[in-house]
Amino acid sequence: MSTYKIAVLPGDGIGTEVMAEAHRVLAVVQKKFGITLECTEARVGGIAIDVDGKALPQATIDLCKASDAILFGSVGGPKWETLPPNEQPERGALLPLRKIFGLFANLRPGICYPQLAHASPVRADLVAGGFDMLCVRELTGGLYFGQPKKTTEENGEPVAVDTMVYKKSEIERIAHVAFRAAQGRRKKLCSIDKANVLECSVLWRKTLIEIHAQYPDVALSHMYVDNAAMQLVRQPREFDVILAENMMGDIISDEMGAIAGSIGMLPSASLGSSKEGGLYFGLFEPGGGSAPDIAGKGIANPIAQILSAAMMLRFALGEKDAANAIERAVIAVIDSGLRTGDIWSEGCQRASTSEMGAAIAAAV
Ligand code: IPM
Ligand code: MG
Repeated sequence: MSTYKIAVLPGDGIGTEVMAEAHRVLAVVQKKFGITLECTEARVGGIAIDVDGKALPQATIDLCKASDAILFGSVGGPKWETLPPNEQPERGALLPLRKIFGLFANLRPGICYPQLAHASPVRADLVAGGFDMLCVRELTGGLYFGQPKKTTEENGEPVAVDTMVYKKSEIERIAHVAFRAAQGRRKKLCSIDKANVLECSVLWRKTLIEIHAQYPDVALSHMYVDNAAMQLVRQPREFDVILAENMMGDIISDEMGAIAGSIGMLPSASLGSSKEGGLYFGLFEPGGGSAPDIAGKGIANPIAQILSAAMMLRFALGEKDAANAIERAVIAVIDSGLRTGDIWSEGCQRASTSEMGAAIAAAV
């Protein structure tokens, strides 16, 4: 009987609603696979600003440090959008969590299930049969964290600067993650950069080519980010693993989420360095945000949160059978025709957040 400590941070908006469904599914998984998850909740984001005075309270950091993994909901909402940028839920909680725990590798699967291809805004013949790609995004470097980062005044005029900076070692470690991911899939890696303009990208591409020598079974290609944005909508089925630095990966992964149909379906994992046994400490969260427009209505799609829990079981806890069971259950429920509003189509049965969660729990 394996026991794990999980820091559960539901956050704001739909976070608490979809997290409740993840718990429902995890309860079944624990019984079925003989594992115990000791889940402890802590506040993060807007709710923490309201109660504790800041988006990432020390108690929350301490809980995460004492845990095997972080299961994260979502943060943010209109209520906190007028605060100084550094204090807002996103910048005040999510970015520090990534930095504190060294979560440099962000895995964002972009799966368009054939049964849900109609939900994709891309022309039907281009997504027929669905697709399955994985965006590997560098998460603790580049423009997000580079120094200097400030707004000053020059000749009476405000001047803002952000700095894109990458050390070779930072590129190497994320490259290894991407190559290994490709080895476990269709063995195609497309590295995205802007090597025709940016110094960081020149080093990025050079480093990728060097590391490629260790992964001869993977086909490596390079694509400028603007072209990649275009090819993603023109031929999404051509992509397997996509690798990008922080900012480019942020943009490309949203595009990937959109063409996959619904962001409410997409989980993500933010991982640190691998530990013994090939496991990772990580933060697992849905790809979408707190969706304040639909929060509290019980209509949000809980699948992204449930699949994030599956990624947690796989990457942080090494419970592959349990992870597979959840992923299979999600597909079975989709096959049965049950749909939340974001993926609904004619002839399907409409489900609320909790009906969807209950159906997936039952299918496990
Ligand atoms: C994401 C989000 C965050 C990011 C924001 C909320 C800071 O867009 O996880 O993709 O830019 O990384
Ligand atoms: Mg983003």
